Amino acid sequence: PETGCLSIVVLGASGDLAKKKTFPALYHLFLQGFLHPGEVHIFGYARTKISDDELRNRIRGYLITDKSASTEHLDNVTKFLKLVKYVSGSYDSEEGFQLLDKEIAKHELSKNSLEGSSRRLFYLALPPSVYPSVCKMIRHNCMNKSDLGGWTRIVVEKPFGKDLESAEQLSSQIGQLFDEPQIYRIDHYLGKELVQNLLVLRFANRFFLPLWNRDNIDNVQIVFREDFGTEGRGGYFDEYGIIRDIIQNHLLQVLCLVAMEKPVSLKPEHIRDEKVKVLQSVLPIKDEEVVLGQYEGYRDDPTVPDHSNTPTFATVVLRIHNERWEGVPFILKAGKALNSRKAEIRVQFKDVPGDIFKCKRQGRNEFVIRLQPSEAMYMKLTVKQPGLEMLTVQSELDLSYRQRYQGVTIPEAYERLILDTIRGDQQHFVRRDELKAAWEIFTPLLHRIDDGEKKPLPYKPGSRGPEAADELLAKAGYVQTHGYIWIPPTL
Ligand code: BG6
Repeated sequence: PETGCLSIVVLGASGDLAKKKTFPALYHLFLQGFLHPGEVHIFGYARTKISDDELRNRIRGYLITDKSASTEHLDNVTKFLKLVKYVSGSYDSEEGFQLLDKEIAKHELSKNSLEGSSRRLFYLALPPSVYPSVCKMIRHNCMNKSDLGGWTRIVVEKPFGKDLESAEQLSSQIGQLFDEPQIYRIDHYLGKELVQNLLVLRFANRFFLPLWNRDNIDNVQIVFREDFGTEGRGGYFDEYGIIRDIIQNHLLQVLCLVAMEKPVSLKPEHIRDEKVKVLQSVLPIKDEEVVLGQYEGYRDDPTVPDHSNTPTFATVVLRIHNERWEGVPFILKAGKALNSRKAEIRVQFKDVPGDIFKCKRQGRNEFVIRLQPSEAMYMKLTVKQPGLEMLTVQSELDLSYRQRYQGVTIPEAYERLILDTIRGDQQHFVRRDELKAAWEIFTPLLHRIDDGEKKPLPYKPGSRGPEAADELLAKAGYVQTHGYIWIPPTL
């Protein structure tokens, strides 16, 4: 592993993302021994003029949410916060960034770090509108200058633009300042345990190899549901909508891993090459294979315009035009304010040919990967109902993580991804050409929605979404199993 000074700069330190995700992830990395005091320095940067201690107290509030926190936990938080300093400045002034550079350099020049290289990680927990100016400031004022080597990396998060054109513009602005190996585009779904497992599952199991294709699979669903609305984020959300917020990035990334061919090796570039190919094989979306929804009450949010046309729900069927998947619908579905909170991949197999158990339809084989909550994968299969009669029943082979991996803590997505940025592993980050291909798929549809040509259907908060979405699902070939429900094991 690399040694020497590691400076992690969180820009937008007082924002939501930093407080809820970035700092807690850094804290957990610290707890697990990945951030060594003496070697690592964390800087918060934002416009507000506050002191180091004020920032520390704010972060503390997010790290200690439980009033009965143990003294060990309190001590650890205090030790962690000692690594944190604050620098205030604007996002487009040289002065602020020169000051930041000076603060970083102070530690790099200290005795401890002379033996190693200096590493600078800039985490932009900021709205993308300031990415170009912030990147410019970093490039001009804050690059690693150590003779002993090291690196400068930047971490950015969606929304990367609003459509193909704006995304490409942003990419080229950043691309003029940093090389691709320096840019880490986070899609936090790629940091989820079961998403990371997809590659292993698919390519390390003989079970799946012969079945994973159009001859055996009837349809694939990738579903994201939340049981709350856009409370408090209406302003941001209304500008983007559910397709840009969830489908074009999180669900599409999952689709790539479900559908891609076997990569040449596990090298990040080999994996990303295969993902790009999937995206490039997606056919234009058909209007009749899209259902949009907006929950009733969404426009009551004062930050949402009264006549907003923004979808808070969408079901979109994607078709992959290649040898493996021709004819298999990939149904991407995401919604806010629905009846449950979960994210899962549902691979539904075709009916058994020449079925001799015709008496009662039992439903199809399905392989379900539950990303959250209650991480699990289960295979729905038909078995003989135990007893004297020769009856069949739908059951499952269940690998529930909580039960199978008792006592194992599944790391938070951000924790894992930030560690990757420090280690220089880009496998779970979105490459520029991937991003472009993703926007190419959705831009025509998004423009039709933005222009008001395609309107969302109203649905009741707490429901399954618009009925038309279930009809589209059925039309695409999904067969619902009635009378069967998977129950996550309780421990
Ligand atoms: C974010 C979206 O990227 O993902 C949010 O902007 C959404 O709208 C969130 O709530 C969901 O993430 P997770 O990890 O809770 O499924």
